This record gives sequence, C-alpha cells and structure tokens, in this order.
Amino acid sequence: MSMKVISVPSTPYAGQKPGTSGLRKKVTVFRQARYLENFVQAIFDTLSGQQGQTLVLGGDGRYYNDVAIQTILRMAAAAGFGRVLVGRDGILSTPAASAVIRKWQAFGGIILSASHNEGGPAGDFGIKYNLGNGGPANEAFTDAVYRRTQEISAYYTVDSSDIDLSRTGEASIGEMLVCIIDPVADHAELLESLFDFDRIAGLLARPDFRMRFDAMHAVTGPYAHAILEGRLGAPAGTVVNGTPLPDFGGGHPDPNPVWAAELVNALADSRSGLSFGAASDGDGDRNMIVGRNFVVSPSDSLAVLAANHALIPAYAGGLAGVARSMPTSCAVDRVARELGIACYETPTGWKYFGSLLDAGLATLCGEESAGTGSNHVREKDGLWAVLYWLNILAVRDMPADVIVREHWQRFGRNVYSRHDYEGIETAKADRLMDELRARLPQLPGSLSNGLPIAAADDFAYVDPVDGSRSERQGVRILLEDGSRVVFRLSGTGTEGATLRVYLERFVADASQHEVPTQEALAPLVGLADAVAQITVITGRTCPDVIS
Ligand code: G1P
Ligand code: ZN
Repeated sequence: MSMKVISVPSTPYAGQKPGTSGLRKKVTVFRQARYLENFVQAIFDTLSGQQGQTLVLGGDGRYYNDVAIQTILRMAAAAGFGRVLVGRDGILSTPAASAVIRKWQAFGGIILSASHNEGGPAGDFGIKYNLGNGGPANEAFTDAVYRRTQEISAYYTVDSSDIDLSRTGEASIGEMLVCIIDPVADHAELLESLFDFDRIAGLLARPDFRMRFDAMHAVTGPYAHAILEGRLGAPAGTVVNGTPLPDFGGGHPDPNPVWAAELVNALADSRSGLSFGAASDGDGDRNMIVGRNFVVSPSDSLAVLAANHALIPAYAGGLAGVARSMPTSCAVDRVARELGIACYETPTGWKYFGSLLDAGLATLCGEESAGTGSNHVREKDGLWAVLYWLNILAVRDMPADVIVREHWQRFGRNVYSRHDYEGIETAKADRLMDELRARLPQLPGSLSNGLPIAAADDFAYVDPVDGSRSERQGVRILLEDGSRVVFRLSGTGTEGATLRVYLERFVADASQHEVPTQEALAPLVGLADAVAQITVITGRTCPDVIS
C-alpha cells in the first residue's frame, strides 16, 4: 500500500552543525518543534540513491530515544527507504549498529546517542549518520548536511501511527518494511568469531578469577548479559547496572575514574575478591579496563592490545597497521616500530579511522578517550576491547596490572594524562586557542617553565587514502626530550567550551615507572599554563576532570 507523502513547511534552526560525533544538543533543544525533523531531512536530502534501500536505526535508549525513533521511521518511509532494521525497544549500541549495517549491507544507519553525556529530560540527546561501511559519515558529508539545515524549507513524513517495537518481528509503514531485530545477536555472533570464547569461558569459570562489568545503566547491559553471562557462562551478577535507563540512573555513563569510581574502588579493595573490572559508556563504544588497584590508561591499552595480537584468533595472522588519534599517547607507536608495521596519526574522532580500515591499512585503532576497535566494524567497540583483554588474560594467565607493567619494561612507559577544563565561556576558550595559535611561530627554540621547546604546530591531517585535508585539529607543543603537550577544544560538549590539555612524557628507566602519573607530569602542567595562559584567560587554577 503506498502512502501519501506529507510535506510539512519548516524554517532553519541555527547551529545544527555536527561535531566530533554527530549533532549533540540538550533534550530541550531537540524537543523544539521541527528540530529533529529538520536535521533528519537534511541527512536524507544529502543522500542520493536510498530509494528501496535498507536503513539501520537504533540508539542507546536515552530519554527521547523512543519518540525520535518513531519520527524517523515515518520520515524514512517518506524518503523512500525500502526497509528499516530497528533494534528491539529502539536499542542498538553504536558498535552493534555498525555490525548490523555491514552484515546486512545496509545503505546506512542512524544512531541516536550522545555517548557518555548525561541523559534524561535535562540531559543531552544526539543523532549521527553512518555510511554503508558502518562508519560515521566523513566531514564532507556532515558539512553538506549542515549546509542543508541552513536552507531547509520543508520536511517529509507520512501519516502513520507508532510501531510497537517491544517485540522482534515485522511491520510496515506504507511500502516500507520495518524489521524489529534482536539488538544483540549480530554483534555477539561477530565478536564470537574473533576471540577464543572457550578459553575465555575457562578463565571466567576459575574460582580464583572474578570479574565485574559495569554497564553504567546504559546500552551495554543487554549485550554484556548475553555475551559474558550467557555465551561465556560468567556467574550471574558479573554484570552490574545492566538495565538501560533513560537517564542512566542520574550519572554520566562515562567510564573514567571519576564516573566509574565505584568500579575502580571495588578493584582497589582486596576484600571485594575481584581480579578484573571493565565498564562501557552510554552507547557502548568506549571501554574502561581495571586491574587490581590499577586503572589501565586507554593509550596503554591500545599498545598492549597491539603487542599481544598474536594471542587472538582474529589477529594472529598479523596486523596491517595501527592508528591512533593525535592526542593519544605514542605508546602504540613503539609497538608498531617493533612489529615493523605502519602507525597512523589521525585527528580526534573515529570517522578518520574509517578510510584506513576500509583500505586495509590499519587493523587496530584507538583513542586516549577510552575508544579502541578494529577492522571488524567501523566504530570503536567497548565489549570488543573487554573480550580482547579477557582473551589475553586467559592465554597469558597473569593479572592485567602485571601485563601492563611488563609492557612498560619492554617498551618504556609513556606517562600520560588528560586535563579537562569544562564549561568555559566560549569566547574565552576561543581567545585562548587563537592567542596560542598566534604564538606558535615563536615557541620553537624557546624555554617555557624551564623546558626547551623543540617544535610547535597546529595539527593538520591529509588522509592517505583519499587525500582530503583536515586543518586546525589541535595545537601540539613538542619538547626536546620527546614530551608533548596538546591543546584542543572539545567538539562534543553542549554547554560552553571544554578545553582539553593532553600531557605526555616518555620514561624509559624502569625504576621510574611507578612514580605517580600526575607527579611525573607536573612540569608539563606548568608549561601548559605558561604557554596557553589558562589561568590568566579563564580564571581556572585546576582542571575539572583528570583522566
Ligand atoms: C571526544 C573524545 C574523542 C571521541 C569523541 C566521541 O571528543 O575526545 O576522542 O572520538 O569524544 O566519542 P571531543 O569532545 O574531545 O571532541
Ligand atoms: Zn560513546
């Protein structure tokens, strides 16, 4: 039955510019009349050839997910899609959506998420478009979507009631088929094909090994229940906070030492009997790995995964290359050098890894912000990272902290930390970055906080596959001894500006590896303030979040 397409007149909203990972705004902004519709229409207008094709649709279950899904289903029918694969209850983690797009050769996908940002009526909402390779749309596409939002005059929908998404099965909106799929099955099957599940099951069955996975009331609950406690047989109760809630139980579903403090503390308390901890974020693409009284830094984690690839069935044949975002520590570079493989340095954001993965140039990718993944999908993948670690632990039969310490002994330690200054007035943050950029030519050869600066620039990236250029991706200050300080403004926040300062120092001497991170980096913190005038311009004397 064909349905009448309804054209609803609309006018543009300012500021519908996708950031590091899609459009993120307060729920209150998204709830304005025609706001979501305008952006979705701009996506559909930017596409071509979607008639009769398959769209994948789902989200992290945050507040407004359910309403937005129904709106998008109607608009997809009006845009001529032949079929939508939608997760049951509107749920699909970001990596699962990527897996579903790839497995079913969909035209693309829409993921509703604001990742680790707060949820609930006063929290954040977000939407991003992924291409047929399963990865986030590139800048050329998101720029085109933004331009379209600025000239939009109508959106298109059909008159159809809401679809019951609480059970898997099929429904239709006019000629468009709606397949309500199990959000976990395809992703779980893919993960099972990569790792040695028997061996991991053996580890999880050992009485001396106890694991906790904290789903932070976000999307990974159902995935972790099904994979860890289901397929791998971990004891019930291994997964905590495993039911997705629209407001994530009031917290930030951000697996860092601040928001996942409960997990970190449990692993620090020997009475808990826990030997390994892990957590994931709102939409399931980030991971946190915790050993006994030891939080693994994401940059180190990427290096450890690369160094141990031969133990993992999917990667035992060798890595084509590795890639990290520019602010991520250079720990993985050292592993790549030893393996004799390429190490790519990209701007922040997963979208830049896509072309390297598609071209077969890189197998593993990672970011300091707790994102790691591989060529199995085109997003970072939280549970993938946890299973990779479990597979390593099962084969090497030693605790996570020992594995990292041995890694440092072998490769040296890239001591690393990120300092975030949140909610800075946008004008001040822009001024800080502008003045810092203006100062760049004078920095090389000078001393700052007593430290000699070797080089300073604003990171620009040329994609080795398609030659596209991305400018102004973060200011880098490189010291004579190889230490680095990097400055950039967050592209995912929804309130004011967040200044991120990334600090890194290489320590070869094993006797110095246990010096506390912040202590080892203190001279660089002083340099960062001197060079960028953080306190003078923003009035802040210390960061809000240290990770
Ligand atoms: C942050 C992280 C970045 C990550 C992105 C999406 O972006 O820093 O590594 O790709 O979230 O998860 P930012 O807020 O720094 O722009
Ligand atoms: Zn995320």
